[in-house]
Amino acid sequence: MWLYAAAVLVGLYLLWRWHRERQTVPRLSEKYVLITGCDSGFGNLLARQLDARGLRVLAACLTETGAARLRAATSPRLQTVLLDVTSSQSIAAAAAWVRECVGDRGRTGRSPPSSFPSSPPPLCQPVPAQPVPERGCGQGSSPGSPRPLSPGLWGLVNNAGTTIPTAPNEWLTKDDFVKVLDVNLLGLIEVTLSVLPLVKRAQGRVVNVASIMGRISFFGGGYCISKFGVEAFSDSLRLEMHGFGVKVSVIEPGYFKTAITNIENLENNFLCIWEKLPEETKASYGESYLKDFLVALRKMEKKCSSNLTLVTDCMEHALTSRFPRTRYSAGWDAKLVYIPLSYLPSALTDMVFSWSHPKPSRKA
Ligand SMILES: NC(=O)c1ccc[n+]([C@@H]2O[C@H](COP(=O)([O-])OP(=O)(O)OC[C@H]3O[C@@H](n4cnc5c(N)ncnc54)[C@H](OP(=O)(O)O)[C@@H]3O)[C@@H](O)[C@H]2O)c1
Repeated sequence: MWLYAAAVLVGLYLLWRWHRERQTVPRLSEKYVLITGCDSGFGNLLARQLDARGLRVLAACLTETGAARLRAATSPRLQTVLLDVTSSQSIAAAAAWVRECVGDRGRTGRSPPSSFPSSPPPLCQPVPAQPVPERGCGQGSSPGSPRPLSPGLWGLVNNAGTTIPTAPNEWLTKDDFVKVLDVNLLGLIEVTLSVLPLVKRAQGRVVNVASIMGRISFFGGGYCISKFGVEAFSDSLRLEMHGFGVKVSVIEPGYFKTAITNIENLENNFLCIWEKLPEETKASYGESYLKDFLVALRKMEKKCSSNLTLVTDCMEHALTSRFPRTRYSAGWDAKLVYIPLSYLPSALTDMVFSWSHPKPSRKA
């Protein structure tokens, strides 16, 4: 009897949640979304997905080639900008470009463009801090005529990321950690701060791409540290932004087949670091450790899911649902293995991971 009542209550709760979460925000076609790291992987797919849904995508790419490829695959609505999230100058220029795109010209602001040019505007170059009209952004209003303030930037998706260099902590230098933290954490923070006033104005969304490795740390280097940092930053930002109507979501994907999990890149990085190690360190780990690690990498690659939409659908939901979730775990490995593991006592998770990790040849 009690079991039956509990099952009904759970069923009703799930139904209520499903109904609530499928409600979308109105006027999606008027909303601007800035996505970082759009050259490949999740960022690239999300840009195409949102463009197909009619949103005004501002896609930040690291390379000119990536940007040109993306423009060729999308509608003229989508606009690109070059952005290296490790460079403050590049971030400032991109933020100025975004302000121009959303029609923000300060207190006497003008309305955003009512229509877009039929061919993609030539946007793919680092943009000077001053708005440049030929770029196709912020046009459509007659000079001198005061208009209502721009609606701001609806969404920011902090997606750009890197894993390399990665290896056991002892094999790395401080600079190796800095390289990853600069992209995955400090870059994410600086991009967020630079466009936050625009997101506040739109009462919009910040979507930060963390990882299951922001919930549980089981290999060395800056990656897990950076993703734990993204979780922490997102939590404090969510609390602070609540009063402004801005919602902050975190995406926690499991393993997916993208450039970041590309086996050749990871192997090359690993072998390069191994070659530079002092003989004493090499001897303490032993050649068998290296061999086993490479085998483990190959196994990891086989477990990666090719269905990237599991992740981009979460990002899209966080941007378009009236009631976005605080956290999205994407992929079955995230939902069934890593997130549950993250709630276990450390003694148990240590046992699980030391069982599957390569063993060093000697202890001292
Ligand atoms: N794939 C997974 O299994 C997985 C799991 C959990 C979380 N994630 C996270 O998902 C996000 C997207 O990664 P992905 O898997 O889609 O891999 P990806 O294809 O390598 O995408 C990462 C993107 O970030 C760009 N990027 C790298 N350094 C940058 C910089 N300094 N400034 C601006 N952009 C930069 C890359 O540009 P280039 O291509 O030109 O280098 C690339 O477009 C990352 O934050 C990653 O940590 C991935």
